[in-house]
Amino acid sequence: MTDALQEIHQFLPCRTPQRWIENALDNQDLMLIDHAHCEKKAASTALSLMYRYVDNSDLLNKMSRLAREELRHFEQVLAIMKKRGVQYRHLTPARYAAGLREPVRGDDPGRLVDVLIVGAIIEARSCERFAALAPFLDDALADFYRSLLKSEARHYQDYLALAELANGGPVAERVAQFLAIEQQLVETPDAEFRFHSGPLL
Ligand SMILES: [Fe+2]
Ligand SMILES: [Fe+2]
Repeated sequence: MTDALQEIHQFLPCRTPQRWIENALDNQDLMLIDHAHCEKKAASTALSLMYRYVDNSDLLNKMSRLAREELRHFEQVLAIMKKRGVQYRHLTPARYAAGLREPVRGDDPGRLVDVLIVGAIIEARSCERFAALAPFLDDALADFYRSLLKSEARHYQDYLALAELANGGPVAERVAQFLAIEQQLVETPDAEFRFHSGPLL
């Protein structure tokens, strides 16, 4: 296991439940469709931060690079879907992102700190799930997911570093509050399967 993945396992409050892995294997087309949405959303979140915080050059540089990488991932998922005859379509919003964003403060600098923490958590969970799924996937998808987990681990670190910078110091206490919610979202039964859902009801 890579050091980066080990760090992510230590950061996250829990591992993905085995039941979710089974759900994912039973719903691989849906998993790919939602994965494509996640990559696109990740790029769009980075871009919206770039619009809002134009005076933060660290953030502008990191988010610009991140947005490009996420769009590249998006293109890679689309290519895999095309090869497998999976049609891209709209999906209802997942509870995960909405649930995680609920405690985000309304005013800056708290808002920025919180949005960056949420970004770090989503990247960390994505990385953990790619690693958890890889051993059960066909070779092509397993190779792709192993390649992605490296960049998502880096994105997690970038988001966390930017959160500390925005906060002017450690964010561990605030992170712990968000992680408690994250654990609920990952472990409690979910009505719909998504890349970041809980196990199906
Ligand atoms: Fe990505
Ligand atoms: Fe990412």
